[in-house]
Amino acid sequence: NSHMIEKTPEKHDALIATLPLQPVFERPFGIGPLHRLYKGVWIPEEIIRGTLELQQCFKSRPTDIFLASFPKSGTTWLKAMIFFTLTRTNYSLDQHPLSTHNPHQCVPYMEEEFATGRSKIIEVISSPRVMNTHLPYALLPDSIKESGCRIVYVWRDPKDVLVSRWYFAQKILGGADKMVTFDRFYEFFYQGQNSFGPIWNHVLGYWEERKRRPEEILFLKYEHILQEPVKSAKQLAHFMGCPFSETEENQGVVEQIVELCSIKKLKDFDVNKDSDLSTSKFNVHISNAYYFRKGETGDWKSHMTREMAERLDTLIEEKFKGSGLQI
Ligand code: A3P
Repeated sequence: NSHMIEKTPEKHDALIATLPLQPVFERPFGIGPLHRLYKGVWIPEEIIRGTLELQQCFKSRPTDIFLASFPKSGTTWLKAMIFFTLTRTNYSLDQHPLSTHNPHQCVPYMEEEFATGRSKIIEVISSPRVMNTHLPYALLPDSIKESGCRIVYVWRDPKDVLVSRWYFAQKILGGADKMVTFDRFYEFFYQGQNSFGPIWNHVLGYWEERKRRPEEILFLKYEHILQEPVKSAKQLAHFMGCPFSETEENQGVVEQIVELCSIKKLKDFDVNKDSDLSTSKFNVHISNAYYFRKGETGDWKSHMTREMAERLDTLIEEKFKGSGLQI
């Protein structure tokens, strides 16, 4: 229905107002995004608006590539890798867009674009389009599920996701004193009360679908990419239908991609150091610098007691039981 596209996303406000409101989690002093429970998932209000708009209006193409992730699982990294790999013949290394643009400027965030009335911009991108979503599989528009397009799903040890999220929220809210304590934040996460939570449903939703459609959904794990970046980059390129040629491999193209997309390199570009620059189209300042912190595995060890870690692991293991997934 093309006439629907003309309408603004505000048309969904009445429905959104009927959804259950969040308990405290990231909004202890009335700041931070207001979340509501939409079909069993905690989602910031404006993102729900974008989701409803997406579900009504988005037309996926078979050539589309989606990066799907639970926030703080490696979205920024994969945006850079995917973008670079797909466009690798278009740019020279010394004038690469990733040296002047934050990865989030190179790959649009669907829910945000649709929430802010920018769906037209997505429609005119030439194929193959690359976009990202944080929505769980169940909430994706049917158009994406049925077009035959490809989905890259990146996931990460939930304990590190939790810690990463904790720091990200602090930066956005303006300091640890604006937050609940880490212990409470942990508890909320454990209860599934976190943006796009619970995390286990998010990972499992895509995993179950991957079992049905292995050609169309690729699973990558943050920890594995860190361990074997070159292998992961090849896997990614192959999956996207643009495998590296022997000549490219001999020329070291894969290593160049891995190197430029490393956190060390990306973090150092002025565009990602400037704290005034924000890619967010919402009414919130998310500095380009916020997306780069440590980029390591196991930082949870400095934040959780052994007991807390085991408790969360046990919960996730129970949820993953029988699925074939392991943390
Ligand atoms: P940490 O906070 O643990 O350092 P997302 O991009 O999904 O928001 O995830 C952010 C996490 O990915 C942060 O984790 C961030 O430091 C890390 N990250 C960002 N860019 C990266 C890169 N190029 N390589 C590895 N990790 C990266």
